[in-house]
Amino acid sequence: MKLKIGNVELENNLILAPMAGVTDLPFRLLCKEQGCGLMYTEMVSAKAILYKNRNTGPLMEVRPEEEPVALQLFGSDPEIVSDIAAQVEDGPYAFIDINMGCPVPKIVNNGEGSALMKNPKLVEEILTALVKKVKKPVTVKFRKGFDDDHINAVEIARIAESCGVSAVAVHGRTRAQFYSGKADWDIIRQVKEAVKIPVIGNGDIFTPEDAKRMLYETGCDGLMIARGAKGNPWIFSRTLHYLETGELLGPPDKEELKETILRHAQLQIQFKGEYLGLCEMRKHLSWYTVGLPHSSSLRNDVNQTETWEDFYNLIQSRI
Ligand SMILES: Cc1cc2nc3c(=O)[nH]c(=O)nc-3n(C[C@H](O)[C@H](O)[C@H](O)COP(=O)(O)O)c2cc1C
Repeated sequence: MKLKIGNVELENNLILAPMAGVTDLPFRLLCKEQGCGLMYTEMVSAKAILYKNRNTGPLMEVRPEEEPVALQLFGSDPEIVSDIAAQVEDGPYAFIDINMGCPVPKIVNNGEGSALMKNPKLVEEILTALVKKVKKPVTVKFRKGFDDDHINAVEIARIAESCGVSAVAVHGRTRAQFYSGKADWDIIRQVKEAVKIPVIGNGDIFTPEDAKRMLYETGCDGLMIARGAKGNPWIFSRTLHYLETGELLGPPDKEELKETILRHAQLQIQFKGEYLGLCEMRKHLSWYTVGLPHSSSLRNDVNQTETWEDFYNLIQSRI
């Protein structure tokens, strides 16, 4: 299914969620190859950009072959967030997204991420400033609410729409839940019924069937996948195929799995250097090999490797 956000027409409505420490450029390239319609950078602190923190550079890099990509910023000061967004928007980003869902204590205690949901007035100020200063479409990602006593996704979505935001993404859990329990898809349906801008549903899509069910149960316009894509970029091609044809394709065979792991490692090394790139691959490998026989001993051995050659030989001989 196609999806238009602002003036940008996406190829399809399957979306890779932002995930700090996961959705870096190498991983996004693999998801794009599998047909993903829109991807997000990892979240980037507006303040860190303001203070020219060197770590932000790699987080913000986007290559032409992966477009369209949304840059996700986080912050709580309307002036800083909007000034920084206006400063960086000429980069290769389709949208500027603002994070109002992150549950991590370090972020929440700073009044950022999901803490913003407790302050709808500040949400309005941030979004008003962003839409005023940024020419590209602005989107916002938030949760069901802060906790069970403060469920206000519908209110936040209405504020976003009235501020001129082009789309909202809703994760059906409260901040208090972090990632536990089941995502509440009914809140996504309620948001969809409350606003006219595109609504992207998020939470607990792990299979093509889940994706179809979320579309059906919520009526949402876009489907955003986070944990279901870890070690599994094929979820996008399999889901696209399933939604278009009703046919469920199997998981990749061993050759394709091996080839993808090796290419992922090569991209990591190109992007981050041999040492860091291979360190990054440790977690990805543990996700790629979930459920494979002898995967824990393979993971242990991969964790000791420091060269591409050793990594290559291990993958070739043990998968
Ligand atoms: C490791 C990890 C990192 C995440 N980082 C971000 C982030 O940087 N920005 C954001 O908006 N959400 C982030 N999230 C939340 C996801 O985008 C998503 O909302 C959540 O995982 C629910 O979707 P899922 O059930 O498909 O995993 C992160 C989630 C995980 C598991």
